[in-house]
Amino acid sequence: MTSNRAVAYKGPGVVEVIDTPYPEFELKDGPGVNPANVGRDVRHGAILRTVSTNICGSDQHMVRGRTTAPSDLVLGHEITGEVIEVGPDVEFIKVGDIVSVPFNIACGRCRNCKERKTGICLNVNPDRPGSAYGYVDMGGWVGGQAEFVLVPYADWNLLAFPDRDQALEKILDLTMLSDIFPTGFHGAVTAGVGVGSTVYIAGAGPVGLAAAAGAQLLGAAVVVVGDLNEERLAQARSFGCETVDVSKGDPGEQLEQLLGVPEVDCAVDAVGFEARGHGADASHEAPATVLNSLMTVTAAGGGLGIPGLYVTGDPGGIDDAAKEGSLSLRLGLGWAKSLSFATGQCPVMKYHRGLMMAILHDKVQIAKAVNATPITLDEAPQGYADFDAGAAKKYVINPNGYIAA
Ligand SMILES: NC(=O)c1ccc[n+]([C@@H]2O[C@H](COP(=O)([O-])OP(=O)(O)OC[C@H]3O[C@@H](n4cnc5c(N)ncnc54)[C@H](O)[C@@H]3O)[C@@H](O)[C@H]2O)c1
Ligand SMILES: [Zn+2]
Ligand SMILES: [Zn+2]
Repeated sequence: MTSNRAVAYKGPGVVEVIDTPYPEFELKDGPGVNPANVGRDVRHGAILRTVSTNICGSDQHMVRGRTTAPSDLVLGHEITGEVIEVGPDVEFIKVGDIVSVPFNIACGRCRNCKERKTGICLNVNPDRPGSAYGYVDMGGWVGGQAEFVLVPYADWNLLAFPDRDQALEKILDLTMLSDIFPTGFHGAVTAGVGVGSTVYIAGAGPVGLAAAAGAQLLGAAVVVVGDLNEERLAQARSFGCETVDVSKGDPGEQLEQLLGVPEVDCAVDAVGFEARGHGADASHEAPATVLNSLMTVTAAGGGLGIPGLYVTGDPGGIDDAAKEGSLSLRLGLGWAKSLSFATGQCPVMKYHRGLMMAILHDKVQIAKAVNATPITLDEAPQGYADFDAGAAKKYVINPNGYIAA
């Protein structure tokens, strides 16, 4: 039997490479698999040999012990692969295709999928709408930080690249299509970014940087990125963003120095529930900080794109309210300013083809923007540690040697 080495969560702060079974066209029982999903027939699936699979800030919430993820959960929802086997119900995806896998698993048959709301598919996760590979409470689909991975509903979910050689040549850009590039772009789109917009993006992690590159692609006049990590702010400046350091205080005053006014047209939260406070509070967690500050700095009538993750339960929350995902939001301010809010998983499929074309035709340099950095499968635990420590890098795991040295 072919083995399948994979990156697994072992407990708070601990990630290891373990041996797991080679995938079959059936969802087998295992860590985190919802009992109602065990034995699920996946005739519509494809088995991929992983070409690249990225470490994400969303994985870090689990690895930091901030979720109920079980030990031995195989991680990895950002997957690009080569199709090596297809199930009997797959009609169009072919063995040999190099494909991008949207991190959202979707059936293509339910009401939400039909409306392109693939982040809240009704049929893939018995717990709630919406699913993803290798993620707690997402149905138990096995993660792709592995040599091989099973993708259900392959004809619907997979985006096949037009040319194999071109795909492998641009793999460090194309690998961002499974999550962060569409996610950041969706943040900018839902914030209402268009030609001439002024934009503030909270968070200079990979999602914030992807939102910044997305806002530039959409024609923003000025993109300002805020963080308290100087190395990540320098990364944002490397491709033409302005920056603010939130450890020096709320972004309003620094925005005024840059723009002449203390507000922007559009704002994106690329931080989520593990947000730090601003100014003197930057040394500790203050989960409502980003949302409240975005309501303050966004002009009346503006939009807030909120890809940053907020949870329904957080064992490490700062107080009882935060432990059940309740935050102290100044919603009255947002209401008074007629702000609009867009939350939730990014429906990757809405954007991935268009963004692929932008990459293939050199209209955007996403790998450079997020500082894509390839590592081996065995280097993944170190990659997790360095990413957690705030490295200004997006780690791309290369489990099968497709990414040339
Ligand atoms: N909605 C989606 O579909 C989706 C997809 C991918 C990731 N996410 C989420 O997006 C968020 C960002 O992901 P990432 O990979 O860039 O994570 P990350 O942890 O690498 O980046 C978050 C950054 O926010 C900074 N930060 C903390 N408090 C801040 C504050 N008050 N103001 C400004 N910056 C602050 C941190 O220093 C860090 O650099 C995470 O919550 C992740 O789970 C959501
Ligand atoms: Zn991700
Ligand atoms: Zn569906």
